[in-house]
Amino acid sequence: MTETVKTVGARTAETQDQKAAADAVREMFTSIAPRYDLLNHVLSMNVDRLWWWRTARRFRHIVRRGDARVLDLCCGTGDMAFALYKQGGPQGATITGADFSAAMLERARMKGAGKPLEWVEADALQLPFDNARFDLVTSAFGFRNLANYDAGLREIFRVLRADGEVGILDFGEPKGLMGKLYRFYFRRVLPAIGTMISGVSGPYAYLPASVARFPEPAEMLRRMKTAGFREVAYTPYTFGIAGVYWAKK
Ligand SMILES: C[S@@+](CC[C@H](N)C(=O)[O-])C[C@H]1O[C@@H](n2cnc3c(N)ncnc32)[C@H](O)[C@@H]1O
Repeated sequence: MTETVKTVGARTAETQDQKAAADAVREMFTSIAPRYDLLNHVLSMNVDRLWWWRTARRFRHIVRRGDARVLDLCCGTGDMAFALYKQGGPQGATITGADFSAAMLERARMKGAGKPLEWVEADALQLPFDNARFDLVTSAFGFRNLANYDAGLREIFRVLRADGEVGILDFGEPKGLMGKLYRFYFRRVLPAIGTMISGVSGPYAYLPASVARFPEPAEMLRRMKTAGFREVAYTPYTFGIAGVYWAKK
């Protein structure tokens, strides 16, 4: 499929059209799946755990409800879904993780053995779920990788029920001195360590580039409103290195 309108979304260095970009992103995550968790914890110095926990806690009022259905989109190896499950407990919401990389999902399945979570192989831009199925949709460090952000927001909106909530956790770019230090780490140190541990060079050059391409919070909130969401808000975490966008349908 070739784009006919200008879309805003992730692109790797080699790809420009939407389908090729999505395929390249899927291949990239598949190639690093075996080392993904280790790299995540090393490169974020374990702060990623805090970010998942904070995001899950923010939606505790939904995940604690036994009648609620929760979708964690671009779930990867499952850590956001597990953080939600921890908040809700065994009597809490039914949690489904969805991702388009079978290799990432396989690891989620293994890590979640014995827990009542569902794992579905699916493209976030074409979800195999009915309208209004979920009470909450989350996505951690996944949304930024979509080849078309507006289409992604529309699809999340479609599968949420009225009054349902969305939480998108992703990287940001801190400002000021912290921003300078962070950019040095993110653009120089992180790609070098990432390439060394994973043995694959593409993904860790793509990561800072994808964060730089991602809309600033004000623009992202505007896009969420355009998709139909209300009460849109952004909460930065850790000097704005990451942050969560949240809203209601
Ligand atoms: C950086 S990982 C994040 C994984 C996990 N949520 C976490 O916090 O560790 C991004 C994930 O998004 C998935 N992804 C990217 N684009 C996708 C799409 N269009 N549909 C489904 N999954 C997608 C990738 O396969 C990858 O597993």
